[in-house]
Amino acid sequence: MSSLVEQIKTRLSIADVVGTYIKIDKQGSTLKARCPFHNEKTPSFFISPARASFYCFGCNKGGDVFTFVQEIEGLDFRGALKVLADRAGLNLADFSDFKEDTGEKSTLKNLMEVAATFYEDRLKESLETMDYLRGRGLKDETIKKFRLGFAPDEWGALYKYLMSRKFREAEIEKAGMIIKGERGYYDRFRNRIMFPLEDAGGTVVAFSGRVLPGVSRSGGKDPAKYINSPETVLYSKSNFLYGFNHAKVSMRQNKSVILVEGQMDLIMSHQAGVSNVVAVSGTALTNMHLQMLKRLSNNVLMAFDQDVAGFNAARRAIEMALEHKLEVSIPILLNAKDPADLVRENPILWCTAVSHALPIIDALLQTITARKLSADERRRAVEQEVLPFAVRLRSSLDQAHYARLIADFLGLQEDSIWKAVKEVSSKLEKGTPSSNVHITLPTHEEKRLTNIVKRINSILLWQSKEADPQIPVEEFRLRLSEFLPDSNSDRCPPEKDEQAEIFRAEVAYSGHSNLKGECDSLFKGLEEEIIKEKLIKVMEDLKKAENDKNSFEIEKHVEKYHSLSKQLNDLKQK
Ligand code: UTP
Ligand code: MN
Repeated sequence: MSSLVEQIKTRLSIADVVGTYIKIDKQGSTLKARCPFHNEKTPSFFISPARASFYCFGCNKGGDVFTFVQEIEGLDFRGALKVLADRAGLNLADFSDFKEDTGEKSTLKNLMEVAATFYEDRLKESLETMDYLRGRGLKDETIKKFRLGFAPDEWGALYKYLMSRKFREAEIEKAGMIIKGERGYYDRFRNRIMFPLEDAGGTVVAFSGRVLPGVSRSGGKDPAKYINSPETVLYSKSNFLYGFNHAKVSMRQNKSVILVEGQMDLIMSHQAGVSNVVAVSGTALTNMHLQMLKRLSNNVLMAFDQDVAGFNAARRAIEMALEHKLEVSIPILLNAKDPADLVRENPILWCTAVSHALPIIDALLQTITARKLSADERRRAVEQEVLPFAVRLRSSLDQAHYARLIADFLGLQEDSIWKAVKEVSSKLEKGTPSSNVHITLPTHEEKRLTNIVKRINSILLWQSKEADPQIPVEEFRLRLSEFLPDSNSDRCPPEKDEQAEIFRAEVAYSGHSNLKGECDSLFKGLEEEIIKEKLIKVMEDLKKAENDKNSFEIEKHVEKYHSLSKQLNDLKQK
């Protein structure tokens, strides 16, 4: 094979090949790029045309043009060889040293190909099944593109056919297509709609078979909706993504990948013109799946079924994706059950859902809003359903953004959200399993201002009961009421337990040599908080005036802003 490899290497420059996949920066004689195999902001991926190789200092991936194509296309060596030979304008058949491999894998691949064609032909004969598929909204060209098929309602249709094509029993069994029973071998897939599962290079490696509607097993038990191939030398479900071969190019072009739950969703999405889509098949999402996706894109859209099972699958999948530092967003499916449903209703709806997918936190908050909960329930919903994701966001900038969003959503102060997020982040970093990490937000917001007022009040209460008070109690009461002319009652409702309040103040301040000084600084803090609240209000007014383009109002608020800032500064200088 070496001469073919050599020829490809002399004909293609590594920079050209890499350049078709990612943008290369040329600085002098150095060629670098942002690594396509891990997420980075500054380029650490270097290309050496002289040595015909690449290397990334960030993730330590390196190699030649073949390695690169294998990695980025998700192909094996032979697959990459085909891609590159084609690009180099070489015809594989001209190379005597390039023979199709004759090992077991290759026999099984042939076998699966023959089986796929067999099922395709049977589908053409089964008008009933074709009717069902067309009724689900599939076009004939889509059925052809995804090579849908039909397994006849017989015990040995495929078995007999493959034997007639000179495959051996052991091979058919090894490919997972027959099962040994008491009375000999029988077909694994019977009376089912067949979805061939193709690997990244388009080779059929397994099947998934869907039950026909209205079929029930004798004994009243419903047959499984889908039956899938077992694990074989060709197929491992934990690193298999359905649709990957059709999605590669589009994933890279769109810089995003959409993950759907079912084969039907995926196929219908293609039919609607959205082709950067993959599905896991017959298993939950694994880390290997995510690694495959991450090579092609950092943005994952997760479109799961709008039912409880779908939601639970989604939660775990989202968590894992965030742990892989992927950006996750959610297409909103409106009232449809799943993407396939939405496409059948109207393909535009699916395209819109995809192009308007909401970033994960926004999407979660939206589902909470829709539930019309009480304030308390809302807070708990945020604790349980939103914060576990917020803490896994990939940048602290995003975390800060969402802390603010969540704070607004709950009418809490940003600080307390931030604190909760940080707390949990650090627990997660220390390796505490996420199921053991609980997040609690304050039930009601303890604003700094309220806190200070409370503290002063309790000192006054305590001192008023003392025979020999250390502070002028009445004078300070007056001063406090001047600060809060409107209603100090609703800002700080009277403490239920007076004794407890007095006790708290006593513990905190008895033995303090200068209680009066302490109170003065509390008053100062209070004044600061009041100015800050006013500042926030002015900022809001200003924003509104800017939106309304009301220049008179803008000027007024800006002036007020300056005067308040000055007050605050003066106070701090004191
Ligand atoms: P769904 O039940 O949502 O099926 O399972 P679907 O793809 O939407 O099919 P339709 O629309 O009802 O025809 C989603 C995926 O879960 C796997 C299959 O990969 C399926 O596509 N699955 C489901 C199984 O592996 N086994 C099952 O019994 C059911
Ligand atoms: Mn579904």
